[in-house]
Amino acid sequence: MDQNGMPVVKFFSGKQIPVELHKVRIVQKLHLKKIDERYTAINEAGYNTFLLNTKDVFLDMLTDSGTNAMSDNQLASMMQADDAYAGSQSFYKMEEALREVFGKHYVLPAHQGRAAENIISQSFIKEGDVIPMNYHFTTTKAHMELNGGTIFEIYTDEALKIKSSVPFKGNIDIEKLKNLIAQYGPDHIPFVRMEASTNLIGGQPFSMQNMREVKAVADQHGIIMVLDASLIGENAYFIKMREPGFSNTPVKDILREMCGLADIVYFSSRKVSSTRGGGICTDNKDLYMKMRDLVPLYEGFLTYGGMSVREIEAMAVGLYETTDDTVISQSPSFIAYAVGELEKLGIPVVTPAGALGCHIDAMGFLPHVPQSEYPAGALAAALFIASGCRGMERGTISSVRDENGNDVLADVELLRLAFPRRVFTLSQTMFLIDRVNWLYQNRNLIGGLRFVEEPPVLRFFLGRLEPVGDWTAKLIKKYKEDFGNSL
Ligand SMILES: Cc1ncc(COP(=O)(O)O)c(C=O)c1O
Repeated sequence: MDQNGMPVVKFFSGKQIPVELHKVRIVQKLHLKKIDERYTAINEAGYNTFLLNTKDVFLDMLTDSGTNAMSDNQLASMMQADDAYAGSQSFYKMEEALREVFGKHYVLPAHQGRAAENIISQSFIKEGDVIPMNYHFTTTKAHMELNGGTIFEIYTDEALKIKSSVPFKGNIDIEKLKNLIAQYGPDHIPFVRMEASTNLIGGQPFSMQNMREVKAVADQHGIIMVLDASLIGENAYFIKMREPGFSNTPVKDILREMCGLADIVYFSSRKVSSTRGGGICTDNKDLYMKMRDLVPLYEGFLTYGGMSVREIEAMAVGLYETTDDTVISQSPSFIAYAVGELEKLGIPVVTPAGALGCHIDAMGFLPHVPQSEYPAGALAAALFIASGCRGMERGTISSVRDENGNDVLADVELLRLAFPRRVFTLSQTMFLIDRVNWLYQNRNLIGGLRFVEEPPVLRFFLGRLEPVGDWTAKLIKKYKEDFGNSL
């Protein structure tokens, strides 16, 4: 490991690159289609990368959710699954893993992270409540608002800065938390939520010190703390690498301490354990009982919660693997490499490099595209045309409209290029960097998008758009001039 915690080797030339500390034993064929075919595909997908068919995609960097590579041990464990509606041995293995890894006794299974959010929101939020948090996630916000809550994002001033050297941009601002409690009163605050490796602001972690301080304030007012642990492994890893006093602490101990500070820990296993599913854990029997009966109602019996027993087996193994430094460092080290190389090329990216993906600042990349024409969505479409790589828009398309029908402009316009664990190789990463660089050199050719079909909720999933003007034709013409017959 180097000083940044990257599993890197130094070449004789002096260059440092991340190395894969695993070998590939099962592979999936990929297709890199011709640019005209990529153009047809994005047109058919309404310029929304969610609507692409993976047969047309080369590197699928949409998300790390449910797409991390499983290990040989995870796959092997699936063969031992105990098929039973009630009392499955597979569930007890998962419960044991959660007790050991998260250190929480009571476990409720759920079919994925948002299902856990539904149960927590229904159990604790009442009309008029406010919920402080470092930053929202799309499904979290939707469930909380559905139950009558209002979320307050009380991040620090640094959180939304694209370029920064602050190691913990996911921290909660303690003064803002105190003020919010004074303003609304603890009775209207069902819990404080902390999201590990804050997804929507570039996978940015919070520090242990900040979590301890948040807990102390919440405790003073009898408010419970809820931890979204979907990306807890990466957050624990960043604490080890960046926070004074933790460099010699194993990731598994950091993770236990983080969970120990929270009263309720919930997670998406699609991220944390490289499988599918999710769940909720707590040590507090009263909190457990408040939530328990919603699981059979929405998810399934208490020993499967909407998950297949095979996934439950793999989840138990995946949880232990998340505490392995070489497993948990793989994705952040590739992201750090990509961010470092893009920065050297002068391309605006979120720094410091965080978890789950490399985040390109679309407003910095395309300053000539107004936010009302969705620069992050336009950049995602342009990158697909130029490379067959699909990323995810995390900007105004992922936002909503206000009561007058106007777009609520997002705080940041990001194109997220996810690096699921142990999926992509270095040469694929280098191809991605090359095509992003080509786009940057030709950025003036890229224009905006407008909606042609817009669902009223979570419009980013199913909405359809079209280019404003004929910029795609110009981009394709230039690509052919520069690359000839090359894919
Ligand atoms: C931080 C965070 N919380 C919750 C969720 C929702 O989890 P799921 O997709 O399993 O419903 C996600 C999904 O990406 C997430 O990143």
